[in-house]
Amino acid sequence: MKKILATVAVAAAALAGLSGCAAGGGGSDDGLITVGFAQTGSESGWRSANTESMKAAFSEENGFNLVFNAADNKPEAQIAAVRSFINQGVDAIVIAPIVEDGWDDVLQEAKDAGIPVVLEDRTLTSSDDLYASWVGLDFTREGERAGEWAAKEFGDTPTNMVVLEGTTGSAPANDRAEGFAKAIEGSGIVTLDSQTGNFTRADGKTVMEGFLQKYGSDIDLLYAHNDDMALGAIEAIKAAGLQPGVDIKIVSIDAVHDGMQALADGEINHIVECNPLLGDQVAELVKKVLAGDTLEKAYIVDDGEFDQADAIELLPTRPY
Ligand code: AHR
Repeated sequence: MKKILATVAVAAAALAGLSGCAAGGGGSDDGLITVGFAQTGSESGWRSANTESMKAAFSEENGFNLVFNAADNKPEAQIAAVRSFINQGVDAIVIAPIVEDGWDDVLQEAKDAGIPVVLEDRTLTSSDDLYASWVGLDFTREGERAGEWAAKEFGDTPTNMVVLEGTTGSAPANDRAEGFAKAIEGSGIVTLDSQTGNFTRADGKTVMEGFLQKYGSDIDLLYAHNDDMALGAIEAIKAAGLQPGVDIKIVSIDAVHDGMQALADGEINHIVECNPLLGDQVAELVKKVLAGDTLEKAYIVDDGEFDQADAIELLPTRPY
């Protein structure tokens, strides 16, 4: 993320300018642009919304033939999928990288084959010469916003926190940890424990059960790197006879429907948004790059943040 943010220009404004472009340079006999999309997997509500957004944007109606792969959150499988896209001779490749590291070789292979790569959602640590552009969210700022809420909520009151981290080595797990830690500096919050829940509801529940067995009612605060893990943890907290949102305060990231419902119900206390609806922007970037246009290396989409009253108001019209 650091590398990419360093190269961000006027992201929002520039992104707004990415419109009305014609289908680009690649193309098969049917006139469609063949795009290989290497998705992470299907770990969360956020991911489902992101996949739907991508499939809708990369439709035949919009001039695309989408070759979709979800790698079940296995980095080697995702790299193999990208290699297979290269071998198939697709016109462009889109990747939502599961982890940040390990991409140099396959990105170089795509470059050597003359196939442009666009990143969506997550970032990676390879040189930005190896891909055309990235569109996604500022994960560090998301973590910071979650931490700012927690620091304000607890001030210098001694507060025991447990953390459910996202997929180890992923940009959102790394950056959300970093942003949060910075924001709670000088507060009374101390970390009792921090473990990965792999961005899934099931692992969030299992890891929270372990935290509860170990620390019981000493836990004051849960920071979950996404809503799904918070939702799994809520089940564990209730099963332990405690009240989520009251006995243990919860802050999480995403703002998917079920998370917003838990926020409206008072079981989560604060949610920082991570917008999954990136498909249209990614499709426009792909068309632009195939048309030979110059792109910024990074386009950041805005996020919001919500409390209980916001959730009650927004839930009926929330698209995901
Ligand atoms: O990369 C974005 C993260 O991935 C979302 O916050 C999480 O829910 C998803 O699995």
